[in-house]
Amino acid sequence: MLSPYTTTITNEALRRGITVSVIDPSVPIFELCHGSSTIRCYRSLSDRVGAVTFHLTQNKFLAGCFLRERGFPVPPQELYANFKQACDFLEQHSPIVVKPCMQWGARGVATNISTQHDLKTALKNARRFEPDILLEKMVTGDDYRLVFINYCFVSALQRRPACVIGNGSSTVRKLIAAQNLRSTAIDPVHRIPLDRETGRFLHTIGFSFDSIPDAGQTVIVRQTANYHTGGSVHDITEQVSADLIDLGKRIVKAAGLPVAGIDCMRSADGLQTHVIELAPDLAISPRGGQRIAEHFIDYLFPETAGMHTKPAV
Ligand SMILES: Nc1ncnc2c1ncn2[C@@H]1O[C@H](COP(=O)(O)OP(=O)(O)O)[C@@H](O)[C@H]1O
Ligand SMILES: [Mg+2]
Repeated sequence: MLSPYTTTITNEALRRGITVSVIDPSVPIFELCHGSSTIRCYRSLSDRVGAVTFHLTQNKFLAGCFLRERGFPVPPQELYANFKQACDFLEQHSPIVVKPCMQWGARGVATNISTQHDLKTALKNARRFEPDILLEKMVTGDDYRLVFINYCFVSALQRRPACVIGNGSSTVRKLIAAQNLRSTAIDPVHRIPLDRETGRFLHTIGFSFDSIPDAGQTVIVRQTANYHTGGSVHDITEQVSADLIDLGKRIVKAAGLPVAGIDCMRSADGLQTHVIELAPDLAISPRGGQRIAEHFIDYLFPETAGMHTKPAV
């Protein structure tokens, strides 16, 4: 309950005189009460989102089917059925991404899969998280998250994959460890995993944990751009293109999802965009999350909009 994904919201509510009741301190469920209105939340999920809509959107396979049928751009995908089918998909779409259907923070996601050997490893790893696995064509471009609240665009983040910069003498492993030491001092979840997937991805680009990058050389070490795998987050709300916002608006309306994080990949020339995730839970955290939390509480309790004061410094 004391995770930043709840406290960023509950602190904003308390600032406005909204009562917060916790059901059980070990789970992030809480009730917000103001006047005669009570709304139950689970992090940034709330009873304002229908249970069926939640189920549909948080499952990456179902969300993909839903969006594709309505003409939105999603990469080719298939639900994993057996190894032969997965190999056929790989042959048709290589390189591919393998991911569990309902996780978050890049848990169990393997990118840049182009061999049957890597496919087998990726499937085994993804299955540690859940039985339903998605095979997806890997699309190129920059990684964006668009945030919508009450169907309105609130912010856009660009996410860049974790990388290290060589000094001519340290190994990749040492550079990652040093970077993790710096980033986890600020936020413990912001860490590049020193695990098999990072090792495998390094191998696909001709590196290993023991390689020594040249001084000044930048090496991407984990391709998933998530903050939870050491990626960096850049607020581009003021620069994001109007057509991307428009795409997001049409998606949240079609899905009936008032609060959403839409993850998409867009080519540098802006000509190709693919939606890869429709997240019903925003995982609002303090870094840039305060403004989002304000919009969220404005949405749930419009009568309190403008009542908040800045947090004490
Ligand atoms: N089809 C894809 N093509 C390219 N990169 C992808 C693809 N799917 C996922 N990724 C990368 O992996 C990250 C995590 O995938 P995502 O589907 O958003 O799952 P999660 O819920 O774990 O964030 C993305 O932000 C992106 O960097
Ligand atoms: Mg995502």
